[in-house]
Amino acid sequence: MSFGKMPIANGFLDSTDFEREYFYELKPMFCENCLTFQISEQPDPEKMFHHNYAFFSRTSNRMVNHFKSYADWVTEQFLANVDPFVVEIGSNDGSMLENFSRKKIRHLGIEPSSNVAEEARKHGVNTLCSFFNLTTAKKIVSEHGHADALIAANVMCHIPDLHGVAQGVDHLLSPMGVLVFEEPYLGDMIKNTAYDQIYDEHVYIFSARSVINIFSKHGFELIDVKPQSTHGGSMRYILARKGKRAISPSIEKQLHYEDKNNLHIKSTYDLFKKKCELSRKNLVSILQQQKKDGRRVVGYAATSKSTTVLNYCGIGPDLINFISDTTPIKQGKYSPGVHIPVLPYEELKNGYPDTLLLFAWNHKTEIMENEASFIEKGGEWIIYVPDVTLIRK
Ligand code: SAH
Ligand code: TMP
Repeated sequence: MSFGKMPIANGFLDSTDFEREYFYELKPMFCENCLTFQISEQPDPEKMFHHNYAFFSRTSNRMVNHFKSYADWVTEQFLANVDPFVVEIGSNDGSMLENFSRKKIRHLGIEPSSNVAEEARKHGVNTLCSFFNLTTAKKIVSEHGHADALIAANVMCHIPDLHGVAQGVDHLLSPMGVLVFEEPYLGDMIKNTAYDQIYDEHVYIFSARSVINIFSKHGFELIDVKPQSTHGGSMRYILARKGKRAISPSIEKQLHYEDKNNLHIKSTYDLFKKKCELSRKNLVSILQQQKKDGRRVVGYAATSKSTTVLNYCGIGPDLINFISDTTPIKQGKYSPGVHIPVLPYEELKNGYPDTLLLFAWNHKTEIMENEASFIEKGGEWIIYVPDVTLIRK
């Protein structure tokens, strides 16, 4: 399937940079061998992760709380030994690792985007500004020794060279060490037609079967899975060296779910493609109706996901006045590709529009609670996952 010409999802830009904007073709595909859903053209990671990376984990209170319980769980389960050492891949602004830092647990974040790495250091988090791979793993072991737990969230699916990562994991982990990561789950993406999970940074969308296929080549086995409600449906995968730890019955259960839902069969993805096309048609038509009715529509949150939706559906400033976002680095800029202005949240609060289009649908509960007065005053929400829907009082 092709979503057409696509810019970098987090490439918010100034009008002076429109001419130079980078595009690639967003073409998702499904590998019938390893059963991994992936994009065929993968932009160079250096184009996405650099000194000006626009995503900061702590913009969501819910994620900050989630990382606290994630960290507590890892500590309880895997860090009972004397002087444990935990490493995080893609530690961003330190939202996860500060929980270890506060407890004086030895930790190290691996983060290639220097601006977010700097923010993490301000929060007391030890951070190495680098991409994670075998070379980085060797450096960590020589300076700090082996890790008891290597943890990650929403980053494993960003890394094109997963075999390089697996080699790094093998080098870094102690014999009983565990690899724990959580990522958007293929089963949820398919179930909800959440096609906006697909963008440059999400090179892969994993399932339990695909994780097994990738990591078993490197001597690891999946010992547990834990479904998460974050990011519109994620899965936490726990891996250990083959034969070192007991395998939970959760694996059998998850594989059964995946087979029952035909995640290993090509026709599932043909149907998904049709559902994406229908979703596009319905979203564009609802927005055109809003325009005809003279209603002012504003986008809520300039998410990475919104870049796929706006460019695939061809929705620009003629249909959406602006997008409100709380992240300072995005404000005053334009959205990638379709160039809708991104303005501070205060702009929205100072005068609610008629309709809000929710791009951060994965934070729906948190946002709906915060904006209860909008709907009370007669405002309407447009949601597009799992279906295009208008919500009013
Ligand atoms: N873990 C955080 C951040 C996710 S965004 C959260 O869940 O909120 C992905 C982060 O991974 C970015 O900060 C990006 O700079 C970083 N990243 C991308 N490729 C990486 C790689 N190869 N190694 C380590 N970090 C990487
Ligand atoms: P993401 O979907 O790429 O993770 O980005 C989330 C974006 O949404 C981030 O720029 C912050 C923004 N945001 C808001 O503007 N308001 C909110 O209430 C929430 C939860 C996020």
